[in-house]
Amino acid sequence: MEQTIAFPNDMELMKEKDLTSLHPFSVFNSSTARHPEVAIIVAMGEDRSIGKEGTMPWHIPADLKRFKTLTMGHPVIMGRRTWLSLPSGALPGRRNIVVTRDSGFCPEGAETAASPEAALALCAGDAFPFIIGGGEIYRAMLPYSTRIYLTQVEASYPDADTFFPEIDMNGWREEKSDDALGETAAGLRYRFRTLRRI
Ligand SMILES: NC(=O)c1ccc[n+]([C@@H]2O[C@H](COP(=O)([O-])OP(=O)(O)OC[C@H]3O[C@@H](n4cnc5c(N)ncnc54)[C@H](OP(=O)(O)O)[C@@H]3O)[C@@H](O)[C@H]2O)c1
Repeated sequence: MEQTIAFPNDMELMKEKDLTSLHPFSVFNSSTARHPEVAIIVAMGEDRSIGKEGTMPWHIPADLKRFKTLTMGHPVIMGRRTWLSLPSGALPGRRNIVVTRDSGFCPEGAETAASPEAALALCAGDAFPFIIGGGEIYRAMLPYSTRIYLTQVEASYPDADTFFPEIDMNGWREEKSDDALGETAAGLRYRFRTLRRI
């Protein structure tokens, strides 16, 4: 079933707490501070695994569909290794921003940014940039994030080599969690969750 995702509108955002005081936007320049929200989107195992040998340890079609639905039309920020893992290059319908220290790197169909902060500044006009991985970029950008769209995979992956950083749940609340577990044809179970910074 197609998911409909409700992003907060400006009025809702105005009613909420001023998030800029809670995360490092406040030390940034005014263009970075224009983002009302910065979202992380990630699929993660029970052991916080997210990757293995440059790819994802699982195949969950419903997760890929959710990823597309949520990110379409928004800038997507990723590390160079995640960029290299994309099967068909730049993600269509989205501004692709690749974070790399290599000033000579010219990814086709994407822009580059020399740091996570430069990536956020690049998409300052958009109210909802998405951070799409991988491990290094999640770690660097979790402090700037206000939402986490999480696909919780109900399995552990001892062979994984890339992990999501620990989430301190004192600073986050569960905004939404599907009651029912999804299940792939191979019997892998998962749950869609949304976390919101307190
Ligand atoms: N499960 C999921 O939802 C999910 C999502 C995305 C990715 N993944 C997986 O995650 C893995 C890739 O993650 P990863 O941690 O290896 O790599 P990554 O975070 O995708 O990219 C790392 C690269 O980003 C650049 N970078 C990192 N920090 C930087 C900084 N502060 N300033 C400038 N550039 C910076 C560097 O590029 P240069 O070396 O070019 O300087 C670095 O090599 C893959 O297995 C992928 O499949 C999983």
